[in-house]
Amino acid sequence: MPQRSTVLRGIRRALTTFAAVVLVAPMSIGCATIDPDPGWRAPAWSDAPGVRSVVQVEPGEGADPAPDPEPDQAEPGFIEGRIRNDAVQLQARYVELPGVHVFNTRVSELLREAIGATGKSFEPEVFPVDAGLGDRGCVPGSLSWPAERVLASPETGPTGGSGTAVTCEIVAMFASVVAVSMRTVTGTEEAITRDARVTLYADLASGGLHEGSAQWNGDASPGLWLRAVEQLRRASGGLSAAPLAAPPEDQLALATRALETVRHLDGGGATLTIPPGLASPELAGLGIDATAGATVVEVDAETLSSWESELAAELRGRAAEPFVGLPAWNGNQGVDCGLVACVAVTYDDGPSAFTTSLLDTLLAERAPATLFMLGGAARGMPEVVRRAVAEGHELGSHTMTHPDLTRVKPEEARREVLEAGSVLSELTGLPITTFRPPYGALNDKALDAIGLPAVLWSVDTLDWKTPGTEALVQRSVGEAAVGDIILFHDTHAETVEAASAVFGGLRNRGFTPVTVTQLFGGDVPNGRVSER
Ligand code: NI
Repeated sequence: MPQRSTVLRGIRRALTTFAAVVLVAPMSIGCATIDPDPGWRAPAWSDAPGVRSVVQVEPGEGADPAPDPEPDQAEPGFIEGRIRNDAVQLQARYVELPGVHVFNTRVSELLREAIGATGKSFEPEVFPVDAGLGDRGCVPGSLSWPAERVLASPETGPTGGSGTAVTCEIVAMFASVVAVSMRTVTGTEEAITRDARVTLYADLASGGLHEGSAQWNGDASPGLWLRAVEQLRRASGGLSAAPLAAPPEDQLALATRALETVRHLDGGGATLTIPPGLASPELAGLGIDATAGATVVEVDAETLSSWESELAAELRGRAAEPFVGLPAWNGNQGVDCGLVACVAVTYDDGPSAFTTSLLDTLLAERAPATLFMLGGAARGMPEVVRRAVAEGHELGSHTMTHPDLTRVKPEEARREVLEAGSVLSELTGLPITTFRPPYGALNDKALDAIGLPAVLWSVDTLDWKTPGTEALVQRSVGEAAVGDIILFHDTHAETVEAASAVFGGLRNRGFTPVTVTQLFGGDVPNGRVSER
């Protein structure tokens, strides 16, 4: 389950460490490319503690947020992700934005980069029941943790504490902008070999995406570097006021990395932290080799604004504008089943009197599913059919009258399947591209005549025997493997009652629920499929 309090805590926490806001692309409020979630109200930016007067928060401090001002407000619709993989010694916490493809693609790239850097071959993994992987998304405060803690914490780090950790914080939501910082830490408890951050700014109105450097102009990196060296020169008693030589490229790169660490201070200044390795001829002349530790540089407001990009300056004033809200959740998202441990949960024989309740649960769980519907039943419940599609679930044909397709003529089998597909298409405006044969009964003649991929299953919950919700959870959550297709029927009350526990249990093991078509990367192969 997405955890609203966690998200809000993250935002509030981030507000105390990220103030001046920055940005991005030309935006027009009210642009209609994305429907905001009407239930989500922006945090009260002007009232939020620390928006204008920011004090750096130490790890461990300020962990208890004020109570949510509006406990009833809808959850912000982040899609929360978590990958744990012991084979490549990695854990990743991240968020995606519903329908914001460019943002989600960049997040996937960053995750793939982190995985690629391990040099090991990667397959999605799942873990035993109740592995605790249902708690997903960003980890508030984790951007300020020491790198060692990011690696060692079971919340963020790889099993055993050595390897790669990816974590994130939501650092700003205003106007039509969402900013998420992602941090990748690599190393062991003894030695951190990489600690990289990037802030992604998504503009929900324009669909634009910008990375952290978009907030700075070309003076920022050299200016920061000179300031840092000057500070070290003075601190070591150097009396020279002679201008410093311009930095070489590798030194400039240190300053550029430091720009990602900006922490805004009361009064408009900020601190920036330069990683170890700072060196210059002037410092060498004073007997100072490359720095072994981080160098914290404080910069006043005036200097800071002279380093700001035009765009950032232009948009700075918009930080007080209320957030337009995230698009509503929709199951029809791009999912990379090479990256996450996909499983497809399917429901047959509906729609029924229980299907609305099932859709409520799927929405609450933000879980896409595939419903193989009977044409006759669909005709009688058009609103339920349309709702399922509107919320991003997949529909497949389960025939008109539920015959055994091996016991009718091939042309009759074809008519049964395609007619139900037409009913569903007419109701939803979408093509129906797969079917499930009743009883799983199918011969090659019928399959050839029908001409669509036949979706069977690899996990049968036998829910039609009504074994009780506990058994249903055990048979699905307990039995599933990566790539499985799980069979349920939304014609049984207890199946629908079990749905919340089924999806919660699957996520706890590390699974990501997907539709059948998502499971196959957007294209279900012809013939029979029962798993990926
Ligand atoms: Ni059936």
